Parts: sequence; structure tokens; C-alpha cells
Amino acid sequence: MSVRKGIILAGGSGTRLYPLTIGVSKQLMPVYDKPMIYYPLSVLMLAGIREIAIITTPQDQEQFRRALGTGAQWGISLTYLVQPRPEGLAQAYTIAEEFLAGSPSCMVLGDNIFFGHGLPDLLALADAKTEGGTVFGYHVADPERYGVVAMDERGRVTQIVEKPKVAPSNYAVTGIYFLDARAPDLVHGIRPSERGELEIVSLLEIYLEEGLLDVQRMGRGFAWLDTGTHASLLDAGNFVRTLQLRQGMQTGCPEEIAFARGWVDAEALTGMAAQLSKNDYGRYLQGLLTDRMMEG
Ligand code: G1P
Repeated sequence: MSVRKGIILAGGSGTRLYPLTIGVSKQLMPVYDKPMIYYPLSVLMLAGIREIAIITTPQDQEQFRRALGTGAQWGISLTYLVQPRPEGLAQAYTIAEEFLAGSPSCMVLGDNIFFGHGLPDLLALADAKTEGGTVFGYHVADPERYGVVAMDERGRVTQIVEKPKVAPSNYAVTGIYFLDARAPDLVHGIRPSERGELEIVSLLEIYLEEGLLDVQRMGRGFAWLDTGTHASLLDAGNFVRTLQLRQGMQTGCPEEIAFARGWVDAEALTGMAAQLSKNDYGRYLQGLLTDRMMEG
């Protein structure tokens, strides 16, 4: 089991998705058949991480507790923490400082959805690195909307710039951050940016300057989906639906990952399948049990 702990940052007011997100947190919006946060949660579980803090706004915490519970049903442990005001992604590390208690971490942004063959291997490589950090660069058509990787002529990363007017490359930094145990300490030394936030790029820059930041390319075989606008949220849902219907397999399914890893047993999965028995999600879980019996 990994000693690395997980963080899902699910704060923010989601104003770009208003009126959808006036009453419900963005990270609980449906992405086809499950709440958005199931996808980043699944990423952490695929990385073998079982102790996870979920950071939300104070007013949204209750909804997240209702949606996800203690995590015990999936063989993991969920801790709920609060970000009182949206003061930057890097603030997550100081909010989670006590929770991390000197452990390295993997933070995933609660609105980031990933899909791709070989994702667990990519995560395992990043997890194996005990000193420094790893982030993932992904080729996008609109890099200006993200943190962007600047590279020299030999392809080495020289800088990460947040939402540049003119992007130095098409490689955006995705919302998965593997950082060593020093992250909370380093954030204490960062000053807020002009917009008053503790920027994640300021933290990454420290690692970069130390020569301890790996920027792994996440190749074109991966999907990194955007959920930031009404249209892209629907597109993400349709992507998941298309894939799941075609393959007859779920993506972002915590029950399946927990069962496959032996974190929950067949009896526990039977209970979860029964709760969802009226739809394809529940029938899928039931199918996992049948498959296991046939194998056995
Ligand atoms: C944040 C980060 C940005 C990163 C992006 C990934 O931007 O600041 O560097 O590329 O997440 O989703 P935001 O979504 O908060 O605008």
C-alpha cells in the first residue's frame, strides 16, 4: 500500500456553470451516470491511495458527505476539510497539512476527468518518485486556459506559466499533482499572486528550480476532459456514455476498483450492487460478481 495520501480539491464557486451550480457544487454535477468527483476519486484509487482528504467550501461539505460517506464502503478512508475562501489551489496543501502529517501526496482537482489505457502505470511511475514532484503535460488546442509548460529547444521544461496570453506551447498542465512531503512547508513560503491566490504554479516553480519536477507527457491515447462550460460538461458526459455503452465497462467506478484491488469483498459488492439494482450501474456491479464466480 502506498504511503502517499490523496487530496481532492473540490472548492470554488463554479460560477461559470451558473445556474447549474447555484444550489449544488460543480464537482457533484452528473457526468453521465455518476457525480463528477467519482472520476478524480477513481484516479487516486488507481494510484493505490486509500487515505484521501476532500476539500470543499464550508457550505458544500454536507452534500459531499452524503454523496461519498466515510469511504469505508469502498475500502478507503475519506476526510473532509474546508477551504473557507477560494484562495488558490496551492492553499490545499496548508489546509491538508495536518491530514498529510509528513506524507507525500497526490492531489487531483475535483473537476478533472481522465481516461486512458495505462493510466495506472503512469500513476505508479509518479508514485515511485519519493523526492520532488511529477505533473502531467497534455496537448490541447486552447492552452491559454490552463497552466502551460514552456520548453527550451531540447524539449526540457523551463517554466510553467498560468493562463498566459500567448502560450509558449500546446502542453497544458493537468490537474494531477504528485508532490513530496515538503509541499505544505513550501506553500507557507509562497506569496499570493496579483489576483490574491496561492498559485499552484508558484509551488511547482520551486520544484522546477530545484530540478526536482518531472513533467510527464500524457500522450494522445489519453482523454483529459474539460468540464468548465455547459457544453464541455455535456460533452464529457457523452464521452463517458459512448465509451461505457460500447465497451460494456464502466469508467470512474470506485466499486469496481475497490473490488479488483481486494479492498472490499464479494459480500460488500453485493450490497452496493443491490442499492443500485434499478439501473445499468448496479447491473454492472452485479456482473462483476458473476464474472468473479465464473473465474473462481
Ligand atoms: C487550474 C490550474 C491550472 C491547471 C488547471 C487544470 O486552473 O490553475 O494550472 O492547468 O487547473 O484543470 P483552473 O481550472 O482553476 O482555472
